[in-house]
Amino acid sequence: MKKLLLFALLISAVAFGREKEKPLYLDPTADIEERIEDALSRMTLDEKIAIIHAQSTFSLPGVKRLGIPELWTSDGPHGVRPEVPWNDWGNPGWNNDSCVAFPALTCLAATWNRDVAQKYGNALGEEALFRKKDVILGPGVNMYRSPLGGRNFEYMGEDPFLAGKMAVPYIHGLQDNGVAACVKHYALNNEERHRHKTDVEVSERALREIYLPAFEMAVKEGGAWSIMASYNLFRGTHCCHNGYLINDILKGEWGFDGLVMSDWAGTHDTREAVLGGLDVEFGTKVGKKMPAGESVYDIYYLARPYKEGILSGEFSEEGLDNRVRRVLRIIFRTSMNRNKPFGSMCNQEHLDVAREVAQEGIVLLKNESDVLPVKKARKISVVGENAYKKMCIGGGSSMLKPIYEMSPLEGITERAAKENIEVVYSRGYVGDTTTTQDGISSFQNLVDNRSKEELIAEAVANSRDADYVIYVGGLNKSLHQDCENRDRLEYGLPYGQDELISALAEVNPNLTVVIISGNAVAMPWIEEVPSVVLGWYGGSEGGRAIADVLFGDVNPSGKLPFSFPVKLEDNPAHYNGKTFPTRGKNYYDEGIFLGYRWHDKMGIKPLFAFGHGLSYTDFKYGEVKLSSAKIREGKNLTVKIPVTNAGSVAGSEVVQVYVHDCEASVEMPAKQLKGFEKVYLQPGETKVVTVTLGPDAFRFFDEQSMDWKTEPGDFEILVGSASDDIRQTAVVKLQ
Ligand code: BGC
Repeated sequence: MKKLLLFALLISAVAFGREKEKPLYLDPTADIEERIEDALSRMTLDEKIAIIHAQSTFSLPGVKRLGIPELWTSDGPHGVRPEVPWNDWGNPGWNNDSCVAFPALTCLAATWNRDVAQKYGNALGEEALFRKKDVILGPGVNMYRSPLGGRNFEYMGEDPFLAGKMAVPYIHGLQDNGVAACVKHYALNNEERHRHKTDVEVSERALREIYLPAFEMAVKEGGAWSIMASYNLFRGTHCCHNGYLINDILKGEWGFDGLVMSDWAGTHDTREAVLGGLDVEFGTKVGKKMPAGESVYDIYYLARPYKEGILSGEFSEEGLDNRVRRVLRIIFRTSMNRNKPFGSMCNQEHLDVAREVAQEGIVLLKNESDVLPVKKARKISVVGENAYKKMCIGGGSSMLKPIYEMSPLEGITERAAKENIEVVYSRGYVGDTTTTQDGISSFQNLVDNRSKEELIAEAVANSRDADYVIYVGGLNKSLHQDCENRDRLEYGLPYGQDELISALAEVNPNLTVVIISGNAVAMPWIEEVPSVVLGWYGGSEGGRAIADVLFGDVNPSGKLPFSFPVKLEDNPAHYNGKTFPTRGKNYYDEGIFLGYRWHDKMGIKPLFAFGHGLSYTDFKYGEVKLSSAKIREGKNLTVKIPVTNAGSVAGSEVVQVYVHDCEASVEMPAKQLKGFEKVYLQPGETKVVTVTLGPDAFRFFDEQSMDWKTEPGDFEILVGSASDDIRQTAVVKLQ
């Protein structure tokens, strides 16, 4: 008995001792900064070096000996990317890596709805968790500078305020799940063809007012846990090594405590990367065979060469420790976070979110004679490759393997069947027949050897006696369309679509053109076509959402997140015959005058303005009221405006508030977006919409003092339904 008691005492002492010995870094209740210091103090030099560069295409190794888990990243930003092999980009043949494809970020931006952005981030976060991913490589918030930009479809338009305000809830939704956002591509990543070579020269003011604010909001308001440095150079230095952008602005001025990772193969030099503030290196192309027992990752810039630099005294170990701290911080927030849920995948809730985003983002650009919505009909002629072509596979790193992707043709056919409407499809043109990327296929056969004349003749014949013609064309995700690594070569629609559209317009007045794209396109046929819809890349439920809008089940409420110039030269990147893309120095001569700011300044009338988007109802604006006619610097201004749905169907309006500084000592844009609110109204209903403008709405970046400056004087508050449709104006005096 005595022996038994002694034994029990011994066991509990050992257990107690073990309890006491449990390292602090493993204690989820302890302060995260203390856990970081504890883990760091236990790591060897080799373990520290290992944790700051990739161990595979998408992961960091963690510390096996200490039980610190790996960190798994994944593209991003529209869904969880299919798996890739350990060291490359092929198809490893997994069967459990399909996902819900959410609409492209341009479509999300076009919703102008923060709640929808939060739902998007949350659903994506749940999918990421189920797939055991800790970091989603998104959202992308680079500014849309030229309609030729190959990656504009992954970004959120031309206005820093809109892009930033839509990125913030996306990040919250994602990170509430314990999945880190990785905001990309920091910064000035505005073209693709020479993305490793183009060297942006932009004024400090434009940098601060146009190109950085969305990143700043993502960091400060969104609390993003990581950021990806871009490929391009800025003022002569690659952004992955750019001390001014990373050390001074991001980590210094904005107080960013997260991780800065390189874009894949964006690191080029150990010393520059170390001094520039890059924390983690991914995707470097080593391009040589390694001796047995060694891996390509061992000779990454932040691997062996960095270690040798530390041992030789070239670099401090403190610098390495600071990088490791940031990696540990994100690990504790994500892969080692015991409170995070398990996630879920491909469920109806996520599909519903995808459909809602697509429904709200679709923009009705033109609707003369109320062609839309589709009313009683017997036959609908659907024409165009994009009605049929699946778009999730392609476009580069944002490609997805969706659980399914409803094409516009499938969506329209499903909806039309409810009213026994016959749907006849004609291809109309043959664009790009590619259906695979990285070995993943959409299993469509797009080969069609008929001549252009035969294809047009068939489409025209099918459309002549139809009640409605719905043409679905635009761009696609092939190289030189909306695709990473190449920019578009022309502003016009490819594959002879203009001719086809005109031929359809000639035989049927009830024509709607649906453009699938992430970019503006030229519309030389605009006078011939009564109705135009911008459908974006809608993801899994895109086809259904298009049908919802065309048939009026959903009243369109999307607004353009970028301007549609009439012709390419109307865009500042191409003004005066400027070429694009550029290999070397790339001067952004337009400064702060991007998009609608440029059109306003130059008196250029766009085809469709920033913020434009029609509805099946009409909204009337009442008198705008400001909280005060005078405000002091640093104070908020509240703008109230009654909005009435004056039509006969329910719908949503985006109330946009622009500010114009009337008395600045520097040149100011005619208007800049500084607030917006989306409001849903029943027919006849009125709501007072409140928009609060913070002190930021009244400042500019002063290049003399290199600081933000607010000058006293009058500011015009312009409230409207689009940047070219201002309904109410008021003036506030800043004291
Ligand atoms: C892209 C990034 C992407 C990364 C990983 C790069 O080519 O620029 O946006 O996250 O690849 O796929």
